[in-house]
Amino acid sequence: MNLSAVPHFLDVDDLSAPALRRVLDRALGWKENPGKVPDLLDGQAVAAVFEKPSARTRVSFEVAVSTLRGHCVTLRGEELGLGSRESVADVARTLASYCTMIGARVFDHRVLEEMARLGGIPVINLLSDTAHPGQAVGDLLTLEEHLGGPVEGRRLVFIGDGNNVAASLALAAALTGLEMIVSSPPGYELDDSVVERARNLGGVVELVADPFDAVQGADAVYTDVWTSMGQEAQNEARIAAFGAYQVNAELMAAARHDTLVLHCLPAKRGLEITDEVIDGPNSVVWTQAANRMHSYRSILVELTGEDS
Ligand code: CP
Ligand code: NVA
Repeated sequence: MNLSAVPHFLDVDDLSAPALRRVLDRALGWKENPGKVPDLLDGQAVAAVFEKPSARTRVSFEVAVSTLRGHCVTLRGEELGLGSRESVADVARTLASYCTMIGARVFDHRVLEEMARLGGIPVINLLSDTAHPGQAVGDLLTLEEHLGGPVEGRRLVFIGDGNNVAASLALAAALTGLEMIVSSPPGYELDDSVVERARNLGGVVELVADPFDAVQGADAVYTDVWTSMGQEAQNEARIAAFGAYQVNAELMAAARHDTLVLHCLPAKRGLEITDEVIDGPNSVVWTQAANRMHSYRSILVELTGEDS
């Protein structure tokens, strides 16, 4: 098999802008008409590897596979021993002998790249230290549903850590014409390489240090935990650094009255976001969680290359 012909989804920009548009439209179409979902994975197995905990991603990915009539085999990182019990390459080749796709949540993004290079089947990033593309696609779907149309020309403001979630959102925004503002404390900004990658895709990405300036004119305000999985040893330092970047009623008062509030979850309530805001009338976090399944289902189909 020509490995370069195998499509992967390691980050959002593995999709072209038209392919991302197709993924979003298909996801919404099937959300509205579940009876139209085809049995494209009938008789096929998909592996899902988790080196880190998960609620939404694991369940939504498994359900997405099963609604396409496929079978998902979920494995915890510790039982596979990626890179310790066995090399990543040998695990990838083994999984590829039973499965037609591999999804994986990993500590080190390079593990996904190695799987993609050696497995010979599509690899889907279910979150890595640098990217969470399935989340970003589901979030675009959520924005389009709640804003009532394409996100092009809208303004998304991310408050907090310039982390994996922010990075994939910046690429997703660039591919769809959504303007993205990221407001982070010094030392925790979105990586320069991600800003450059998004701008090279034609995206408008700006870093604005003051969160109150950043939320001006926002159609949506997004936040995520200050300490991501794998960074637990930095927790105290991060809590000290991020104090002024809490999404609370005072900050939201500087935005519009109808500005949407997003969070990928899990949330540390009382740190990056207050109960009042996450449970408030502008919060769309439960639509976001639900849309994880709709977006994975559409991404899986995109990777099969079947026109549907
Ligand atoms: N948002 C998200 O990826 O949630 P989980 O970590 O629970 O999968
Ligand atoms: N940035 C968070 C997202 C969790 C869904 C993490 O990586 O832990």
